[in-house]
Amino acid sequence: MKTQKLIILVIAIAVALFIAVPNLSWAEDGAALYKAKCAACHAQDGAGKPAAKIPALSSDDAQKKSDAELTDFVANGGPNKKASHAFSQKGLSAEQIQALLAHVRSLKK
Ligand code: HEC
Repeated sequence: MKTQKLIILVIAIAVALFIAVPNLSWAEDGAALYKAKCAACHAQDGAGKPAAKIPALSSDDAQKKSDAELTDFVANGGPNKKASHAFSQKGLSAEQIQALLAHVRSLKK
């Protein structure tokens, strides 16, 4: 009855995957993206670098901006279309920018 054991094994694996996969996060990891793309300038905790005129993202000044304003800044460089922040043209997807926004919100003091 080797075949039967094999079938049971295959079913067991399928069931295990079915249970495990929805728990794996396919969502973009905003914290990791932030660390890779933003922390060098804005600091890991969002404090920025005042001496280098890099604004804090954890500050009231940044946090009082709307989601739309912050998203536009990160995706397109804001009202002045700063090329340094046109991350949508540097390969970040809308989902990744959304995840970054959520992370920036989590830096609020
Ligand atoms: C090379 C350094 C550098 C990197 C990397 C960088 N920033 Fe910035 N960021 C700045 C500077 C400088 C400003 C101020 C620009 C201005 O106001 O014109 C700024 C401004 C901002 C602002 C507007 C803040 C405000 O109060 O108006 C946001 C939001 C922001 N950055 C988010 C991000 C995010 C998210 C990332 C990563 C995806 C990132 N930045 C990467 C240097 C950087």
